[in-house]
Amino acid sequence: MLHVLNHPLAAHVITHLRDKTTKPATFRTLCYQISLLLAVEATRTLATEEKSIETPLEPMTGRVLTAQPLVVVPILRAGLGMVQPFLDIFPDVSVGYIGLERDHTTAIARSYYCKLPQLAGRHVFVVDPMLATGGSAANALSVVKQQGAVDATLVCIVSSPEGVAEVEKHHPGTVIHTAAHDRELNAKKYILPGLGDFGDRLYGT
Ligand code: PRP
Ligand code: URA
Repeated sequence: MLHVLNHPLAAHVITHLRDKTTKPATFRTLCYQISLLLAVEATRTLATEEKSIETPLEPMTGRVLTAQPLVVVPILRAGLGMVQPFLDIFPDVSVGYIGLERDHTTAIARSYYCKLPQLAGRHVFVVDPMLATGGSAANALSVVKQQGAVDATLVCIVSSPEGVAEVEKHHPGTVIHTAAHDRELNAKKYILPGLGDFGDRLYGT
């Protein structure tokens, strides 16, 4: 199920991310901002429970997050740019890493690294800015499910129709949060209009 972030600030940030004149330092700041908005949206259904507290004026019952550590799994390398907002806003987060790299000619993702915390019974947020052919995301979702994740949500900044279809084919019913759902892939499997190679723009390579 695809959720497209609909907020004026998201539209503003994504336009500057797309702009080819945006330099890496600004690109990293914008990546943080859009990922924070996506993190808030993607965690809308987290469980909460009552907590009795006293304000300076009177007792009251508020709500706090139910103790259940979130697991965030970035797909290296570009997914690293989306992790910090989760660490900043959630009190209890574990981070796992899946390294996947697309071959430049075939666009097929090759696995080169995997280090995951205990996932059994946990809700995992797989984060990767670009959902292009969907090969990387589908692969990462398979890995976290094999490790016992009960629920896996995909969070990306730009998605393509082809990528969403590929994830749906291999992982039906997966919740996908995206800031922009673009038109199509080009012959080299880059998203149009897209923003180019996210990892290169994030790290100035
Ligand atoms: C990019 C991007 C995704 C992947 C998406 O990574 O960050 O992980 O491509 O493409 P797909 O949906 O067709 O699999 P890339 O392989 O370029 O590696 P990088 O993050 O190290 O730059
Ligand atoms: N990876 C990127 O970084 N950009 C694309 O458009 C497709 C894959």
